[in-house]
Formats: sequence, C-alpha cells, structure tokens
Amino acid sequence: MTRRFGGLIAVNEVSFDVTSGEIFGLIGPNGAGKTTMFNLMTGLTPPSSGNLTYEGRNITGLPPYKIAQMGLARTFQNIRLFGNLSALENVKISQHVHTGSGVWAGVLGLGKSKSEEQEVEHNAFELLELVGMGDKAQDKAKNFSYGDQRRLEIARALALKPKVLLLDEPAAGMNPNEKGALSDFIRMVREKFDLTVILIEHHVPLVMGLCDRIAVLNFGQLIALGNPSSVAHDPAVIEAYLGGDE
Ligand SMILES: Nc1ncnc2c1ncn2[C@@H]1O[C@H](COP(=O)(O)OP(=O)(O)O)[C@@H](O)[C@H]1O
Ligand SMILES: [Mg+2]
Repeated sequence: MTRRFGGLIAVNEVSFDVTSGEIFGLIGPNGAGKTTMFNLMTGLTPPSSGNLTYEGRNITGLPPYKIAQMGLARTFQNIRLFGNLSALENVKISQHVHTGSGVWAGVLGLGKSKSEEQEVEHNAFELLELVGMGDKAQDKAKNFSYGDQRRLEIARALALKPKVLLLDEPAAGMNPNEKGALSDFIRMVREKFDLTVILIEHHVPLVMGLCDRIAVLNFGQLIALGNPSSVAHDPAVIEAYLGGDE
C-alpha cells in the first residue's frame, strides 16, 4: 500500500504478509510510517493506492468497525481510553461492537437482557483479571499509570475477540519493570487467545527477543524484512538507526 498526505509519502509501496500465529514486528525511526501502516491495516486511513487482504479477502476501504468485527483489533500509540469511565466500563464498551447494541446503550445497560448484560460484565472482568487489573475494575481510566492504561487498552482490544492484535508501541511510557514483563505478557496473551500479533515498538531488545519476523520501515520505505538476527545485521537497517558510519 501507499499513503500520501499532500506532498508527503508516509507509506511508499510497502508490501508484506503476516502469517497466522506469528508475532510480527514493525520497527523504524520516528516518522518512518509505522503508525500510518497500522491505520491502513485497520481501515482508519484509506490507502492512496494498493490493497489490504485478510484471510484471502480484499478488505481495502472497509470501515474500521467492519475490519474490527472481522478480527483485527488494535491499541493506539496515543492511548485512547474513556478517562472518566472505569476500567470495567472501558472493556464493556468494546464488546458491544460484537453484541450489536450501541456503545452508550451498552454502558447504560439498555436494549439487552439481564443475562446478556451479566455475560458482558463477566467477560470484561475476566479480561481485566487476565491483564492483572481485576482489582482496579472500578477505578477511572484517567487515574492509571501508563503501564496500566496500556494493559487496559489491550484488554479492551481483546474484548473484540480478535484473531489479529495490533499493538502500537505498547512499552511507551512504561517503567523498566513494566517493560520487562511485557514480552511474557504478550506471549501469554497470544497463547491464551490463539492470536497473531503485530507489534510496533521502539524498545529494540523487546522486539528482537519477541518477534518471529520483523519489517523495517524508513521514510515510508520497507528497507528490510526477515528474522530478528538477519534484520539486526542488515546494513540498511544499521544505517537507518545509526546514521551510517557506525
Ligand atoms: N494525518 C496525517 N496528516 C499529515 N501527515 C501525517 C499524518 N499522519 C502521519 N503523517 C506523517 O507521516 C509520516 C509518518 O508518520 P507515522 O506513521 O506516525 O510514523 P511513525 O509511527 O513511524 O513514527 C510523518 O512524517 C507524519 O508526520
Ligand atoms: Mg507511530
């Protein structure tokens, strides 16, 4: 796909496949086009040209909610939670993409049977426990640390019952302890939900240790694609990160 913003080519004829079950890394310097790539892959931004194919089907141009319903769920580099709602409510909202009633109807418990509502709440609780936030279910999202907000966003994405989970810089803002636990956390989530994971991340040790394959973007171009060690030794990658001489 290619995506232009006026004269700027944010993503320039970038093409790759992600295989089911993989943990796939997308890395590159700031402004390389990584988040734009996620926006293209989740329907938030239409491509200027090119196609997005999912499970053999051309899904280019579908709206984000349709793509989410098909199984692609994401988190955001700039965390997007409902700050004044509780952790539990944030996760419950997400499930209504699947159950069909509107977002606010969902929060207010309208248009649903008691048992449906209980099931939504039960599922939301389970997801919060799984991400280690069961004890914070009633606390407002805006009061959480970065680490907790990122985990809450992951819980919310998981409530969509995705097949593919796209994480945009999940370690950003986390403290060293939280960062250290993130690899195991992502592996656990992948196993438990049988997911494909696509990860944008700056924290290089995390990417190298976690990903099966890595794509490297630089100024909108795909400059390398392969396993962590081949990418780490690729001269074009070293130059993009270190500016050449080193
Ligand atoms: N909506 C937009 N309008 C104009 N320019 C944008 C927009 N989104 C991204 N860009 C530009 O596209 C380039 C790639 O941005 P981005 O995908 O956010 O990079 P990354 O996530 O790799 O840091 C940057 O130069 C950025 O300023
Ligand atoms: Mg980004």
